[in-house]
This record gives sequence, structure tokens and C-alpha cells, in this order.
Amino acid sequence: MPDIHQPDLARLTPPEAPLGSLALLRAIIRNPLEALPREAFESALTRRTLLGRERVFVTGPDLIQTVLLTEADAFVKSDAMRRALSPALGDGILTADGERWRWQRRAVAPIFRPDRVNGFLRPMLDAAAATRDRWLALPPGSTVELGHEMMRTTFDIIVETMLSGHGAIDVARVERGITDYLASTGWSIALAMARAPGWTPYPGQRRAARARDYLRGELLRLVEERRRLGSERDDLIASLLAARDPETGQAMDDRDIADNLLTFITAGHETTALALTWAFYLLARHPEEEERLLAEIASAAGSSPLQPSQVSALTRTRQAVQEVLRLYPPAPIIARTTTRAVQLGEERVEAGANVLLPVVATHRLPDLWPDPDRFDPSRFDPAPAKARHRYAWLPFGGGPRICIGLGFALEEATAILATLLPALRLRPDPAFDPGLQMRITLRPARGMPMRVERR
Ligand code: HEM
Repeated sequence: MPDIHQPDLARLTPPEAPLGSLALLRAIIRNPLEALPREAFESALTRRTLLGRERVFVTGPDLIQTVLLTEADAFVKSDAMRRALSPALGDGILTADGERWRWQRRAVAPIFRPDRVNGFLRPMLDAAAATRDRWLALPPGSTVELGHEMMRTTFDIIVETMLSGHGAIDVARVERGITDYLASTGWSIALAMARAPGWTPYPGQRRAARARDYLRGELLRLVEERRRLGSERDDLIASLLAARDPETGQAMDDRDIADNLLTFITAGHETTALALTWAFYLLARHPEEEERLLAEIASAAGSSPLQPSQVSALTRTRQAVQEVLRLYPPAPIIARTTTRAVQLGEERVEAGANVLLPVVATHRLPDLWPDPDRFDPSRFDPAPAKARHRYAWLPFGGGPRICIGLGFALEEATAILATLLPALRLRPDPAFDPGLQMRITLRPARGMPMRVERR
């Protein structure tokens, strides 16, 4: 097996001694993973105070269940996360709370029913085949930036399935816009923690504002165009246009719709692209697992291209995706703020506290996951999966705010892997260490260059 360095999550935890407030804020700006206390990787609940504000890190599955499900009404999305995301996503489904969230969720839920998701498999397989053909046309020995390639593939899928395909969107510019916007979110989060006023300037702000204006402008244009030209398509834009607030009967205005479109475009393609990027990285490190997936794909599809009806047979491939999401959860920390005092096990947490669920840490707790750093898709065999706590694995969150795109993402990642793997072998440089960086999502800090070889 090639000796490829595995990014070591433990390296990202701070030294034994807790960081002072300033060092902590600096760590949040640089990489919020470095600001996680070491104890959060060891105990179910860890309390800290930062500039007079309580921060509670919860990694134990019982307590996570309390936060996300049983006492979910005591929490709202964290103010720091809202400060980071709302300038771009407004009060859309991901950032809204209460009734406003509820009716937006109800409005879009039908698009994510399993029968609708099944109908999306054809465009998912087509987008994957386009990537495969692009790679097959490269000169031998070429290297691709895998993160970028996966973003492009999942972007095509989200635009095709949710927006009925909009050739007019400039994929490269939108991707750059999202990266530029996310680059300074560490600052917004740190400033919220420091309770700095909303107008406090910070590095990268102008660039983020330009990116946000571009992204919002593109989507507003799209909504206006749909209103003007109409369409028979029963897609996300149609659902949002038809949605009515159950109390006031009011429809969404163009800005509300654009907020949600941008939410779905970002939440719906970047996360899955990152999962696939880490998946190819882990499979390159585990050729024996790659062989096993290839055998499964061959037995489902034979020598013909994979068909939508065959994706459900790819059990091991889906398990490999689940295991990737355990080791590299694209949303590594889920954050909430308490709206009232709440009891978490033995501990009482007051209103206004920041409650953080470092999913990355829960996913590597040795009591839940023996030999936690090992990549082993068998962990998701039916028997061990059933025996585990429901909140031991939560890459998609849980409770009423669980990711609405869960089924979509799992089918999509499975379909893309199963289309690309049989045609091509992807290998990083053996000495390459991608590193881990959190920018709301979990990215390889140094990108993911991979050599592409035909099989
Ligand atoms: C591997 C891929 C994905 C991962 C890891 C992921 C992760 C998550 C997580 C953790 C949340 C909950 C955040 C919280 O509770 O604060 C969430 C929410 C959400 N996700 Fe995903 N997601 C993925 C793919 C998708 C896709 C494909 C879509 C859409 C097509 C999507 C759309 C959303 C939306 C709209 C929400 C907000 C739901 C609500 O608040 O009601 N996600 N996602």
C-alpha cells in the first residue's frame, strides 16, 4: 500500500493548556477546528467561557439527542453562524428559525421525497459520465484538482435537478464566489463571539461582499426570468414561487426566493463535493476497499454504463460513503444558541449560551467507534449500524432541522463514485498531506491534486 500521509485530526486540537481569549479568537479565525478544546474529544460535555459568554461543547450521543430532538425548541441556529451566513443566505431555510423556518421547510419538502430523488438519478449519472469523459480525454499522467472537479460535477447536478438546468449560470464564477465568501467567515464568527458590533470591519470583507453581491444578483436574475417567462417544470423555483405563508397567505418575494436558491445551491453541492473528494482520497489509501467496490459495481452494471435502477444495489459503495462522512464530515460543527435554560444531563445551561456539536469529535469517540481513525465501511453493515446510538453518526444533523438533502446526497455520492471508479484510478502524490481546514465546511487545506490514470 502506498505510504500516504493521513491528515491527523488529533494534531488540530490545541495543546493541553487551554488557550487564552485572544489566542482562541485567532484560532477561530484561522481554523475553528483548532479552537476545539482537547476535552471535547474525550468527554460528553465540556464547558468553557469566552469573553463572558458560555460555550458548551456536546459530543455524547444522548446529550446530542437532547439538543437536536427532545429539547429542540430551546435552541435556535447560533448567532455566530447566522452572522457568518445571513449576509448571503438571508432568512432562508438554513438560517431561519421558528415559524418562518417551518413553512419554508414544508414548501420544499415534496421535492426531497424518495420517489422524486430516484427521478434525479438519471441527471446525477449523466453529470458523473460527463466528468468521466472529460478525464478520459486528458493526456496520460495528468493531474486534476479533485475538489474543483467534484464541485463542478455536483454543481451541474444541483442546477439541473433543482433549477431545471440553467446554462446561463457561470459555474466557475459561482464556485469562486462561494469560496471567496466562505474565506472570511472565521472572522464573522470570531467577531460574533467577541460581541463586536455588526459594522466592525475585518480582512476579506470587501471581497466577501463582492462575491455575495454577484451570487445574489445571479439568482435574482434567474427568479425574475422565471416570473417573466414561466415554466412547466415542477422544480425548486416552482415550489418556492407557489409557497404561501400558512398564517398570512403571503407569497415569498424575489429576495426570499433568491435566498433559498442560494442556500440550496451552496448547501446542496459543496458538501457532497467535499464528501466525494475525501472518498477518493481514502480509497486511494485503501486499494483493497477500492477493489471491493469495483467488484460490486461490476456485478450490478456488468460492462455497460450504470443505470438508475442499479444504484440501489450498491450497498458497500453506499457504506463507504457513510464511512467517509464519519471520518470527514463536511459540516464538522453544528452550532446552536439556547433561548431558555435547558438541562443537558447533569448540567444546567442558561439562556444565551453557545452550544456546539463538534460532529468530527463524536465521530471519533473510541467508545462509539473502536479504532476510530481506521477507514472501515463494515461499520455500516446492518447489525453494527442498528446496535449503535442513533446520534453516534450525524453528518446530516438530526431532529427537525436534519438535512433535507440527506437521501439526495447519499444517492448522488454513490452514483458519482460508481460511475468514475470503474473507468479511472485516482492517486495523490504519496507524500501529499492535504491538511484539514474548516470554512463552515471541512476542506482539504492544501487542495486535493490527484493523478488520473485510465483503468
Ligand atoms: C454530504 C452532503 C451533505 C451534508 C454532509 C449535509 C449536512 C447538513 C447538515 C449537518 C445540516 C444541518 C445543519 C444544522 O442543523 O445546523 C444540513 C441542513 C441542510 N441541508 Fe444538507 N448536507 C448535505 C447535502 C445536502 C444537499 C444535497 C442538499 C440539497 C439538495 C442540502 C440542503 C440542506 C438544507 C436546505 C438544509 C437546511 C435544512 C433545515 O434547516 O430545515 N444538503 N445539511
